[in-house]
Amino acid sequence: MQTKLFSIPSPEGHEAEIAQAARLLREGQLVGLPTETVYGLGADALNATAVAAIYRAKGRPSDNPLIIHVVNDIAWLDRYCRDIPPLAYELAETFWPGPLTMILKRNPIVPDRTTGGLDTVGIRCPDHPVTQAIIRAVDRPIAAPSANTSGRPSCTTAAQVLEDVGGKIAGVVDGGPCQVGVESTILDLTVTPPRLLRPGGMPLEALEEVCGEIQIDPAVQRQMGATERPRAPGMKYRHYAPKAPVTVYEGTPEATAAAIARAAGPGTGVICFEEYRDRFPRSVTASLGPVGDKREQARRVFSALRSFDRTNVKEILAQCPDRRGLGLAVGNRLKKAAGFHTVPVGSGQTRVIGITGPTGAGKTTALRELERMGARVLNCDEIYHRLLAENATLRREITARFGPVFDGETLDRKKLGGMVWQDPKALRDLNGICHKYILSRLGEEIADARDEGLVGVAIDAAALFESGGELLCDTTVAIVAPEEERVRRIMKREGITREYALARVHAQRPDEWFSDHCAHTLVNDSTQEAFRTKAQELFWELLFE
Ligand code: TXA
Ligand code: MG
Repeated sequence: MQTKLFSIPSPEGHEAEIAQAARLLREGQLVGLPTETVYGLGADALNATAVAAIYRAKGRPSDNPLIIHVVNDIAWLDRYCRDIPPLAYELAETFWPGPLTMILKRNPIVPDRTTGGLDTVGIRCPDHPVTQAIIRAVDRPIAAPSANTSGRPSCTTAAQVLEDVGGKIAGVVDGGPCQVGVESTILDLTVTPPRLLRPGGMPLEALEEVCGEIQIDPAVQRQMGATERPRAPGMKYRHYAPKAPVTVYEGTPEATAAAIARAAGPGTGVICFEEYRDRFPRSVTASLGPVGDKREQARRVFSALRSFDRTNVKEILAQCPDRRGLGLAVGNRLKKAAGFHTVPVGSGQTRVIGITGPTGAGKTTALRELERMGARVLNCDEIYHRLLAENATLRREITARFGPVFDGETLDRKKLGGMVWQDPKALRDLNGICHKYILSRLGEEIADARDEGLVGVAIDAAALFESGGELLCDTTVAIVAPEEERVRRIMKREGITREYALARVHAQRPDEWFSDHCAHTLVNDSTQEAFRTKAQELFWELLFE
C-alpha cells in the first residue's frame, strides 16, 4: 500500500488535506496523526474492523487496549464514558487539551476491540490543532496507540512513523515534531484514590494539586513478575527498546557520568546530558539535553534511543534524570527500554542509614526497597546470633555474668531470657555486653561496604539508639504505623491471637518516641504500594542526593 503523506503544519489554509485525512478515517483506514506527545496511529474508535487493523499494522498484542482521542468538549466525555466521577470533569477542565489520559468506565458503544475487552476506556484530548480539526471533521473518537511498531521507541516525527509503518497504512499527517515527546500520563479514575498507571507528559505533581493523593502503580518503577497483572496491560510488555541492550545508571549526574565513562568503550552508545557529552570521547553519544531542562529531555528521549539503531553499538548506557516533574516519565521510558536493568551509582560515599521502629510497622518492606536501590542491609538480630555462634570471647563474657547458659556454642535462650525478663538491671548488663560486639561488627561491615563502593548500608536495629548504633549512621529513619494496622500484621505474620499481638505492641515504645529520635519518619498508614512509593522517594534522596 502506498502511504500518502499529508503535510499540515496548521489547520488554517489546509482545509482540503484535513478533509482528505478525515475521509480516510471515516472509511475505516489507518492514518498516522501528530499529537503533542508522540505520533499516534489513528482509526475510527467505533469501527471494530478499522481498530483490528491497528493491531495488525503495529504487531500489537490484542489484549492491549487503545486510548480514544476526542475533541475538547465535555459532551464527548459523557458520550463514551459512564459513571464519571466529578474529579474527572475537574481534571478535563483543568488539563484538556493536553497530555492526560483518564481511565473511566466505558459506554458500551465503544467496541471491545478498542478496549481490549475491558469495561473501562482510556480517553484523552490531544493538544494539537491539526489532529483536533481532523477528529472534529470525522465526528467520531479516534483510537490511536503510539505509531511505532510494537516494542520499539515511540515516534516523535512523521519520518519515524514512515520508518515503522510506512506501506502498511493509508496516510500520515506531518504536523511537525512533537512538542512534549513522551506519551500522555495515564490516570485511573475508577479507583480511589486515583492511580497513576503510566507517568507521562503531564507531571504527577500537577495532577496531585487537583486530585490530592495519587497512588503509583508498581509497574511504573519495576519489572512486573511473570504472574503479576499490571492495570495498564501495556505496561507488562517490553517497550521502547532499541536493538542494542540498554543499561540505566541512577544517581547524581556527576556520579553517573563518571561511572559510565569507566564502563564505556568504543562499541558503547551513551545517552547523556548535554553537559557531559565530552566525557565519552570513544563512544557514540546521544544527548538528552541539559541536566536542568526536563522538557527538552522528554522531547529527545525517544529519538536518542532510536538513534543507535543506525550505528553498530553493542550496548547502550544511559544517564537518568531524577524523579521530579517530567523526570519520572523520562526515567520510566529509559528503564523500560532497559527492561529495568539499572545500576545505582552512589555519590562516591557509602551512605549509612539507620532504620528502626516497632514490630509490624513495615521495616521489612522498607529495607527491601533499600536493597533494590543497591544498599546492603545489616540486620542486628542476625549479627547477634552469628556472633553468639562464632565469638568465644562474647560467650565467655556472657557466661561470666549470667552463669552457664551455653551448651557448647548453643545458647539456652529460654534460660537467659528468663534471667533478663523483668529484671531491668540484668537486661542492661546483657545489652551492655552484646551491643559492643555488635557495634564493632557493624563497623567492619560498613568498612567492607565502603571498600566495595556500595551506595549505602542500612542498619536494621530495633535498639538503634539504645545500642549507640545511631553513631555509625549518616541519617536515621523511623518506620511507624497505626496500632490497629500493626496488630493485624503481627497476628497474620505470627499466627497469634489478638490479645497476644496487642500485648506485643504495648510492650514497645510509642511511635512518637521513634519519630522524635530519628531524622526522618515514614508512616505506613495506607496501602503497601503507597508505602513502598513513599519509601522509594525518601531513600532515593538519602542515597543519591
Ligand atoms: O500520548 C499518548 O497517550 C499516545 C498518543 C498517540 O495519544 N498514545 C499512546 O497509546 O501512548 P499506547 O497505545 O501506545 O499506550 C496506551 C497505554 C497502554 O499501556 C495501554 O495498556 C493503556 O494505555 N490503556 C489503554 N486503555 C486502558 C484501559 N482501559 N485501562 C488501563 N490501561 C489502558
Ligand atoms: Mg505505545
